[in-house]
Amino acid sequence: MSKQNIYDNEAFFDNFQKSRSDKINFNDCIESPILLSMLPNLKGKEILNIGCGMGQHAKQYSKMGAASVLGIDISEKMLEYARTHNNASNITYQRMAMEDIECIDRQFDLVTSSLVFDYIEDFDTLLKNISMLMKEEAQLVFSMSHPMATAWDGTYDRYTRTESGERLYANISNYFVEGLRKVKWVVDDYELYHRTFSSLINSIIKSGFIIEECQESHISDEMRMQFPAMFGGTIHRPDFVFFRCKKAV
Ligand SMILES: C[S@@+](CC[C@H](N)C(=O)[O-])C[C@H]1O[C@@H](n2cnc3c(N)ncnc32)[C@H](O)[C@@H]1O
Repeated sequence: MSKQNIYDNEAFFDNFQKSRSDKINFNDCIESPILLSMLPNLKGKEILNIGCGMGQHAKQYSKMGAASVLGIDISEKMLEYARTHNNASNITYQRMAMEDIECIDRQFDLVTSSLVFDYIEDFDTLLKNISMLMKEEAQLVFSMSHPMATAWDGTYDRYTRTESGERLYANISNYFVEGLRKVKWVVDDYELYHRTFSSLINSIIKSGFIIEECQESHISDEMRMQFPAMFGGTIHRPDFVFFRCKKAV
């Protein structure tokens, strides 16, 4: 099974780092507030953060009172940034692919992941492995690209626009064709996996979870008006989907 490690690509990493350092970005303005609102009280919790990236979430969990955070990621560049900029005495960063988490020999109170499961080929196995790492009362909170956002093949504009460039409609294609999509995004062959919404739900249920909450990303009218180039499309479709799940007993 191939494991893409695109964040160690120099150009891709530089682009990602630059976009995260802009004050107005999708992660900080849209993804993080929703994910954080879905978290339980973190006081004293042992947390596994899958695909921790540059460590912003891990650092936040540490500040919110977590007992410990283990952040894993496949990218050495992302981990290097995390270790340098988002360290704390109760955070451990470790290089590990999410495909290999079954080798972790401890259990957690909470497993989180932000925008990482787009890259997993075998979602069912990943969820089953996550479940094994969770204590009985533990929860899993994660976000990923919304199926309406991944139903795109990269060969056309994501939006039909007016002559002046205003977004009229979101364009999607082959919604029911699941699996690997290679699109041009910073690099020529950016790989992610598209799944339908029902597929996501059924994988979660099949893997022994109960869904406690689901959200689709939205953004206020005010933000859309203020930053139309960045967020103008969010009225047409959500960019991200979020789930909070617990283990079915
Ligand atoms: C969009 S970034 C999100 C980073 C971080 N979670 C955040 O929200 O800021 C995706 C992250 O997933 C990591 N990643 C991609 N494939 C992975 C894999 N197979 N195993 C572990 N991490 C992976 C990337 O290296 C990158 O750090």
